[in-house]
Amino acid sequence: MKEKTLVIGATGIIGKSVVRRLQTFGLPVRAATRLPIPYAVTHPDLDVVLFDYEDPATYRPTVSGVSKAFIVPRRGDSNPQKTVIPFIEQARQAGVSHIVLVTHFDAERYTPSGLYDLESFLIGSGVMYTILRPNWLMQTFNPGFLWPMIRKTDAIFLPTGSAQTSFVDAEDVAAVATVALTEEGHLDRIYPLTGEEALSYDDVAQIISNAGQRTIKFFPTSDDEFRNTLVKAGWEPQQVEILIDRFALVREGFTAEVNDQVGLLLGRRPGRFLDYAYDHPRIWRTDF
Ligand SMILES: NC(=O)c1ccc[n+]([C@@H]2O[C@H](COP(=O)([O-])OP(=O)(O)OC[C@H]3O[C@@H](n4cnc5c(N)ncnc54)[C@H](OP(=O)(O)O)[C@@H]3O)[C@@H](O)[C@H]2O)c1
Repeated sequence: MKEKTLVIGATGIIGKSVVRRLQTFGLPVRAATRLPIPYAVTHPDLDVVLFDYEDPATYRPTVSGVSKAFIVPRRGDSNPQKTVIPFIEQARQAGVSHIVLVTHFDAERYTPSGLYDLESFLIGSGVMYTILRPNWLMQTFNPGFLWPMIRKTDAIFLPTGSAQTSFVDAEDVAAVATVALTEEGHLDRIYPLTGEEALSYDDVAQIISNAGQRTIKFFPTSDDEFRNTLVKAGWEPQQVEILIDRFALVREGFTAEVNDQVGLLLGRRPGRFLDYAYDHPRIWRTDF
């Protein structure tokens, strides 16, 4: 019998692509979500499980009977020690032998996110691991957390100055995760993942404007201006401070680094921002 793979964040930007990719290999998948009933209706061929990081009672049923797991912390989790670490411990006890964990490109440099401690825990847990550290995702602009701002204001307000970022396509991150879960040679590795070019937020605004045929402008802000915008939008103060610190790393040029890890792992060029933006031009419009 084929081994079953658990996908945490099965409805998320990276996770849903991992589910799709594993299914194309004909592999049994257990998809985890806080809303299993509607998900099961649209995915009748999957084993769907109720999973909530905030509810430890859901951990054991989620990991029971699976041999591998793709794990993504929930967005903005500022304390994975209370959520992802106990979950990984349950997975270890249940006999999960390989975990592919998504952290962040800045995990090592920006330790207050807790992601570096999370990585260290997994590395020391005795479970075989593959850690993916993606740079900022292209999908951050849509459907990610910047989309409501862009949609509402036709603008991107960020405290990044003119710094560049080598945005990576979530599809590439999912493809790498699938390779790690299905091919040999990826155990106990850490892969920092970038796109093949570094772009400024001004570059991105121009590409999106052209792709969506609407004008979207980038305005560099101060940290305080950014903080006020997010607080007014209802963000939790702790999450706001984490984002501000992360964008300080962007401003300092740290996220402009480009590596060839995606190409080496997938045997093809990484997705380009231009293609992501032009492949689905309607996503940038609000009149459809
Ligand atoms: N965005 C980026 O640029 C970027 C870059 C590098 C790394 N990452 C990492 O990627 C991860 C996903 O970030 P994202 O912004 O792209 O989010 P996302 O794909 O929108 O993911 C949201 C997912 O988290 C799940 N989720 C939310 N709260 C949950 C909870 N309490 N328990 C269990 N699952 C929960 C949701 O599942 P349900 O709603 O179905 O329960 C959904 O599948 C984060 O760990 C982030 O650090 C993101």
